Amino acid sequence: MKIGIIGYGNVGGTLGRRWAEIGHDVTFGVRDKTSPKVTELLNKITTTANATDIDSAMEQSDIIVLATPWDAVKDILSKNDFITNKIIIDCTNPLSNTNGLTIGTTSSGGEKVSMWADGAKVVKAFNSTGSKNMDNPKYGDDKAVMFVCGEDKEAKDITIKLIEELGFDSVDAGGIIASRWLEPLAMLWINLAYKQGMGQNIAFKLMKR
Ligand SMILES: NC(=O)c1ccc[n+]([C@@H]2O[C@H](COP(=O)([O-])OP(=O)(O)OC[C@H]3O[C@@H](n4cnc5c(N)ncnc54)[C@H](OP(=O)(O)O)[C@@H]3O)[C@@H](O)[C@H]2O)c1
Repeated sequence: MKIGIIGYGNVGGTLGRRWAEIGHDVTFGVRDKTSPKVTELLNKITTTANATDIDSAMEQSDIIVLATPWDAVKDILSKNDFITNKIIIDCTNPLSNTNGLTIGTTSSGGEKVSMWADGAKVVKAFNSTGSKNMDNPKYGDDKAVMFVCGEDKEAKDITIKLIEELGFDSVDAGGIIASRWLEPLAMLWINLAYKQGMGQNIAFKLMKR
């Protein structure tokens, strides 16, 4: 798949590297192609991936992965020409400066992204766990869970395939409204990992019987 990753930090860098190494055609959309951080990331990838400007990455990809700070998202999506009919995987969390969410349970970042990305198929995923789990979701014989939500079934199925290729269990949490619960779930993970001192090697699992 042609995947454009916007934001190449903890989340975007990890997902892009892993998908490139699985064989996907990955392009990072970056603000400064000459940044040593970009070179370092591309050198770390054992296969091939490219970096270009954000507009070109969005234009040439079928799937756009949003992995920037929340504040940057609206502006990036104002390039509406490039996103019509594309799948947008929204990994962001609308974090506030005071370690909370700027949007509460009556709306969500995922819903805002859907509104701003009019004409695209928005799927929320990869927001509810830490990037270390994106690098390695295996816990012995168990797999970390990755929740996904969105309105478009085909877009969700493609996202679920990408999730499972990384080694996660996937759970479809329903329509994009479920972002209202997946974003606070990210806050629980952050609280456990950092405030409760459990560290980044923790993950959620859904059990069924
Ligand atoms: N860290 C996690 O474990 C984790 C897990 C789940 C979800 N998330 C969410 O995922 C998002 C990214 O988190 P992260 O930890 O990966 O952040 P990060 O490591 O700080 O990386 C952010 C990336 O976004 C780029 N960026 C910043 N402002 C931008 C702008 N205005 N336009 C375009 N690119 C911009 C930065 O590139 P430059 O070099 O150009 O600044 C950098 O590559 C956040 O919304 C976060 O809440 C994080």
